[in-house]
Amino acid sequence: MGNLSRIGVSIDSELLHRFDSFIADQGYENRSEAFRDLIRDRLVGSVVIAPTALVVGTVTLIYNHHTRLLPEKLTDLQHESHAIVISTLHAHLDHENCLEVVLLRGKSKDVQKLADRLISTKGVQHGRLVMSSPETVSHHPHPHR
Ligand code: NI
Repeated sequence: MGNLSRIGVSIDSELLHRFDSFIADQGYENRSEAFRDLIRDRLVGSVVIAPTALVVGTVTLIYNHHTRLLPEKLTDLQHESHAIVISTLHAHLDHENCLEVVLLRGKSKDVQKLADRLISTKGVQHGRLVMSSPETVSHHPHPHR
């Protein structure tokens, strides 16, 4: 390990409690190691695909639509990047919560950037990008006819 840096993180108590239960189940002895592994996983996942590779991606978002201006912000972000947004699926889960799945297609770096902006928008409770590059994930090349 290189030089150690200490960071302070503000986290919702309920979320931290769930995180502690999760890492206990996984066998971690302390939070620091679990945080380091999560960060490494996230970094690895984002560099596997070359920045200019053409990819398709789905961004799954869960949010409370009563959060002030949140639905408008998410829609604005998608309009700003309309060239890479194929479609959006919206489901009203209950009185407050919405599930939105945004389909993206474009350069990996652009898809990643928009996904990061959507997921990091204040009020989004959970967000996840799943990205695939048809060129790099094809284990069984199909004959081109
Ligand atoms: Ni809704």
